[in-house]
Amino acid sequence: MAKPLIAGNWKMHGTAAEAVALSRQLVENEQSFCVQMAIFPPTLHLGLVASELSGSSIALGAQNMSEYRSGAFTGEVSADMLKEAGCGYILVGHSERRTLFGEVDSTVADKFKAAQNSGLVPILCVGETLQQRQQGLTLEVVAEQINVVKEKVGIESLCHGVIAYEPVWAIGSGEVASPEQAQLVHGAIRELLGSSGIDTSLLYGGSVKASNAVELFAQRDIDGGLVGGASLEADEFLKIAQLMT
Ligand code: 13P
Repeated sequence: MAKPLIAGNWKMHGTAAEAVALSRQLVENEQSFCVQMAIFPPTLHLGLVASELSGSSIALGAQNMSEYRSGAFTGEVSADMLKEAGCGYILVGHSERRTLFGEVDSTVADKFKAAQNSGLVPILCVGETLQQRQQGLTLEVVAEQINVVKEKVGIESLCHGVIAYEPVWAIGSGEVASPEQAQLVHGAIRELLGSSGIDTSLLYGGSVKASNAVELFAQRDIDGGLVGGASLEADEFLKIAQLMT
């Protein structure tokens, strides 16, 4: 069985002081949950947050990285740099990166590979738009997003990462997928991974809150959550982690 993981994607929110305060609140109130908590602050705050997390069981992750190892890539951050800053995880292919910054499947696959080469655990984000869902394309879109990475790194490496199903229409909209809708996609992902993916963590993301987490987490193939807005409040995020226990 996959170890439950609750990941908090802070996106581009908060000052340095707020990042320190939020991580401190999480560390002070973390209990011996049997769930791995991980937080993903803005890149600039990673060092500060890493200091706050030291000695705690909360892991650190980054929201984006370059697919290249080093070189003349102005404005980019490499996987090695993130690793050095204390990161264990990295989000790849978040829908905001895909839709707002033009990241395509092949770049996402390159990032996944580069992350693993540097010892980071990539969390591959996949999901369909509302239009794709309405056209009945959900499973096809998700399978394609995963297959491009599988072709790049192979099934075993893919399964050593984490996959987060985040329907685009549920992100930041307050409209959460029903537990049945989410399980249907998670079940299909598990099937696609085959025997190598029995222990692969499959997270659900998209308007997760303490009030809807229990039913989602009760689904057979949902091993945790990728939480956006609700991870910016320590009490709410801790409550979600507790519900996974
Ligand atoms: P919300 O929880 O704010 O919908 O965001 C989900 C998300 O994009 C996490 O990566």
